[in-house]
Amino acid sequence: MPSQQKALILRSKQGEFALEDIPVPAPGPHQILVKVEAAALNPLDWKIQAFGVMRETYPAILGFDGAGVVEAVGAEVQDLVKGDRILFQGGHDNNSSTFQQYVLLPAGVSAKVFPSTVTYDEAASIPVGLSAAALGLFSHYAPSGSAKLYPPWEEGGRGKYVNQPIVILGGASSVGHYGTPVVSSIQLAELAGFSPIITTASPRNADLLKSLGATHVLDRSLTADALGVEVAKITSQPFEVVFDAVGLPATQNSAFDILAQEGQLVTVRQDAVGEAKKAVHPGKRVIQVYGSLAVPYHHKAAASLCAALSSLLEEGAIKPMRVEVLPGGLAGIVSGLERLKDNQVSAAKLVVRPHETR
Ligand SMILES: NC(=O)c1ccc[n+]([C@@H]2O[C@H](COP(=O)([O-])OP(=O)(O)OC[C@H]3O[C@@H](n4cnc5c(N)ncnc54)[C@H](OP(=O)(O)O)[C@@H]3O)[C@@H](O)[C@H]2O)c1
Repeated sequence: MPSQQKALILRSKQGEFALEDIPVPAPGPHQILVKVEAAALNPLDWKIQAFGVMRETYPAILGFDGAGVVEAVGAEVQDLVKGDRILFQGGHDNNSSTFQQYVLLPAGVSAKVFPSTVTYDEAASIPVGLSAAALGLFSHYAPSGSAKLYPPWEEGGRGKYVNQPIVILGGASSVGHYGTPVVSSIQLAELAGFSPIITTASPRNADLLKSLGATHVLDRSLTADALGVEVAKITSQPFEVVFDAVGLPATQNSAFDILAQEGQLVTVRQDAVGEAKKAVHPGKRVIQVYGSLAVPYHHKAAASLCAALSSLLEEGAIKPMRVEVLPGGLAGIVSGLERLKDNQVSAAKLVVRPHETR
């Protein structure tokens, strides 16, 4: 085990990223040390740097998605051993953030062993996207922050919403794709039995999204009115749930328009639905998901999702998203985040391999 590692450091709020050498930490009794084989980039990473949100302590290490191999476990850790291949959600503090070569994680739901059919690169693309979609729709036990549907990965959950329609705006995004890596909200919705599953995307992604379970793919450039017309041609049933995996004011307002009168709009960003619109439709609810497996109110659903994840991946019910591995290890992150910021990434997760850093 080396005593030093490479890390991509954000030295100050809204400052610049720089590669630095820092010590490799040792795990405490309830922690695991993981060698990060792959780390995936998320829009939140560039937003933290650009807007100074989320993190208050600097220098900071970012990165929420990772996959790697357990290098050492603390004396009290029961569920993992050295050599386990795990995927995990980090990013809560410098120790757990994935833009470095080794992370320290608390043992528990944030880490999960995955099957050998899934590569480290694919596994790294799963945690945040899957969590946001799965918990936003199916955190059944949470007091809020979810549509609270019954999880399809729990006993009795499969097919529970058979013949109920759902719309997922932004099916080609990581969250829409549903963990991209894993499943895409489209795949989970299919598991739950929803039909039709209508999504929006650039037309070039239509075949991909149909292969994941979407029954209809509508052009993302449709106006709100045109979207309403197109979904009405597909089904006359009311939409009790619409999942907005994009979260822009335009997509949220389009989603709200097509929602049933007592329906639930789950969105990945802060509520941006017009107040006048809400006043006219007081029964419609807008729910912002916080797709973190570590949030206490998601704990029960997150734990059952993590327990089921390996077999869901093995049986192909959840498929990893397409990944693009950036060259240069951690050095590839800065330009990758620029591409995310400029909307230059379509239906793919950008991934780096930290140990390729020179
Ligand atoms: N609340 C949470 O817990 C949480 C978790 C993760 C992400 N997020 C947020 O969710 C958003 C998406 O994140 P992500 O990682 O999924 O992003 P991403 O994968 O980088 O999203 C890119 C995709 O978004 C699609 N897209 C963009 N605008 C669209 C529109 N108007 N209609 C339909 N599709 C559109 C594009 O589809 P085409 O290629 O088909 O054009 C593209 O493939 C970000 O704002 C992120 O910060 C929130």
